[in-house]
Amino acid sequence: MSKKINKNALYGNKFLNIDESELVLDGINVKNLIEKYNTPSFVFLQKKIEDNIKKINDCFSSVFPNSQGFYSTKANYLPEIISVVKNQNFGSEIVGLPELKILKKIEFSFEKVIAGGPYLPNDFLTEIIKNQVKYLVIYDLDDIIRVQEIIQKFGEYKQDILIRIQSQKYTGRLGVVLNELNLKKLKKIFDMCPNLQYRGILAHRGTQLNSIDDYMDNFQLIIENAIKIKKSIGWDTSILNIGGGFPNADSFKKKQLITILEKFKEKLIENNLDSYSIFYEPGRFIVGDTGFALASVIKYDPTHKTAFLDIGNNYIPKFMKSSLRFYNISKIFEAPNKPIDFMGNIPSDQDILVKNYNFTPSIQTGDYILIANVGAYALSWSIRFPYPNPSIILIESDQIKEIHSRNSPNDFSIH
Ligand SMILES: Cc1ncc(COP(=O)(O)O)c(C=O)c1O
Repeated sequence: MSKKINKNALYGNKFLNIDESELVLDGINVKNLIEKYNTPSFVFLQKKIEDNIKKINDCFSSVFPNSQGFYSTKANYLPEIISVVKNQNFGSEIVGLPELKILKKIEFSFEKVIAGGPYLPNDFLTEIIKNQVKYLVIYDLDDIIRVQEIIQKFGEYKQDILIRIQSQKYTGRLGVVLNELNLKKLKKIFDMCPNLQYRGILAHRGTQLNSIDDYMDNFQLIIENAIKIKKSIGWDTSILNIGGGFPNADSFKKKQLITILEKFKEKLIENNLDSYSIFYEPGRFIVGDTGFALASVIKYDPTHKTAFLDIGNNYIPKFMKSSLRFYNISKIFEAPNKPIDFMGNIPSDQDILVKNYNFTPSIQTGDYILIANVGAYALSWSIRFPYPNPSIILIESDQIKEIHSRNSPNDFSIH
């Protein structure tokens, strides 16, 4: 497999190119990958993950020297993907025990980990405490006492706590509203919990945030709540965690992000908030455009202008909220000007991947298709329809590694 990098990036992704009439991913001919691994398969690009981490890190550290990033592993919790993040010295954010176990297995430093969420069963809390996971985010004030009770079993240890603030979006339900009553309750609970230390607040607004207003509303919420906590109970907030929600790395220019962060900084200065650390938890930004699915057209129905693929919502679920891009690997030079529908392989009329997508007019059964932007939330939200798993391949800087074989009887997350 030749490794030649071409400068013509397709749709801004510099790792997806056409080279000598062939589609290539980080210099690897996609047809050769299909020959070796067949379809359906997922391919992830290590260098793109590294690039994305560097990009977001550069933006944040240029505006906030005191900032720290945590990859939201629920976006893609394959151990090999998290290992790439680890090697970049980036932090990680987890919501459940399986992720914590993966971090432990790959020796991720728990000093750089934020755990927490709306569902904190005792076994998860116990492992958080046993492994001294640095930060714990609480979504429900009643969970705080449970944390204290578990800590007491493990001796002297102080746990840093962040409180998730409920977003003001009309759909916002997760987290705490810091009204007078809850502020009093917060103080009272912390007085009863000598092993807990209040460190800061988290406000996460949603995913694929593209408008500057979404970011500014989130920042405003964080600032207002930090001020409220200071005024009402006299605590200093040292960590302002803005959560995730950034779009794919390639669709967000560095300049755009820096402008948003600078506006945030101005607001902080206006409000005399200057001794803080900024935390951020990107998921999609880190992995969204690093993942590709390789598929075959199992049937093309010209009457309905519909292509059925050998992968569907079982592995590319609607919940992932990605803008999928389709390329005909077999006819890469044909102009994509015929609107067709892509269906998956689940025996249900609901398994629609996209409708009226402009594609190559001569598409036929047996063509190979590449689907871009499936790096985030595809595997996480996947449903276990009784078909074999896809193969999963990681293109590292100097080798191609099969992370998961289609022939393996195991779930892709347990290997
Ligand atoms: C608290 C929190 N942080 C980070 C993320 C990651 O979001 P995204 O992948 O959109 O960056 C989520 C996603 O739901 C979240 O709830």
